[in-house]
Amino acid sequence: MTKITIIGAGFVGATAAQRIAEEELGDLVIMDIIEGMPQGKALDLMESAPIMGYDANVLGTNNYEDIKDSDIVVITAGIARKPGMSREDLVKINSNIIADVCGNIKKYAPDSVVIIVTNPLDLMTYIAMKKTGFPPQRVFGMSGVLDCGRFAAFISMELNCSAKDVDAMVLGGHGDSMVPLTRFTTVSGIPITELIETKTIDRLVQRTINGGAEIVELLKTGSAFYAPSAAITNMVRSIVLDQNRILPACAFLTGQYGFDSIYLGVPVKLGRSGIEQIIELELTKTEQDALNRSAESVKQGILTLDI
Ligand code: APR
Repeated sequence: MTKITIIGAGFVGATAAQRIAEEELGDLVIMDIIEGMPQGKALDLMESAPIMGYDANVLGTNNYEDIKDSDIVVITAGIARKPGMSREDLVKINSNIIADVCGNIKKYAPDSVVIIVTNPLDLMTYIAMKKTGFPPQRVFGMSGVLDCGRFAAFISMELNCSAKDVDAMVLGGHGDSMVPLTRFTTVSGIPITELIETKTIDRLVQRTINGGAEIVELLKTGSAFYAPSAAITNMVRSIVLDQNRILPACAFLTGQYGFDSIYLGVPVKLGRSGIEQIIELELTKTEQDALNRSAESVKQGILTLDI
């Protein structure tokens, strides 16, 4: 049975655990620093199993020994930005959390595939690669699947068509500099440029870029967790079932798209060993320029890291 660990049993982590358990993708360990909380959520999920009709062992713990020999580790541990906190402060706090978590992953689950979810995503994924020392094929971030999900949702809402028929593609960093690619976004194979006028597409692109903030504004006390946990589940499923799905992920680039030694959102093939392949698309000048700007902002972020 595949062993899947989720570090950080907050909103995103616990909802991902629920989705993964309901799909019976493996046995789960949910780990958090708060005493009793992961144990309580794990027990609650075990008690849901007979009602929902799934078989999955879920263990809640505060002890890293329990993550031993995990096949997949998902990291959602971290804090959200609080009012008055600068982006730099957030980076500092979450960097320390990721460094601590990754030291333990290296020790207890040295062969695992690691998916980072904690924000700021592109930087935290870079730290995770450095701190685990794992090959980048096994360390990558969840961002593109979520961003594509949001873009696709807005398109299906605009066209009043099934969300199932929309395939969106988003490249770049997870944040203001993300690059939704309308040219590779289709509805049942039909380019959206054939279905929606440019002005409207621009509005949907802007809404996608602002997608995380829009939810924060509505929730007031937290950030999105249904779509992020759905995106995690998609990636975990592709790895566990060796589906080789082509999904966007925050991957370590070594020359692709003209960038070296940074993490950036690009389409990858995801299978049992993690990133099986990075897909390189031929971009137009405008698309490449947008990606360059995105990469530049990630590069600047990496320079501020204390590693
Ligand atoms: N080890 C383990 N867990 C930790 C640690 C640590 N060192 N530090 C913090 N945590 C836990 C917290 O106790 C909390 O339960 O991480 C959890 C984070 O959960 P939430 O605060 O509910 O945040 P959530 O909404 O789940 O978001 C988690 O995902 O999408 C991103 O931006 C989001 O970075 C954030 C992350």
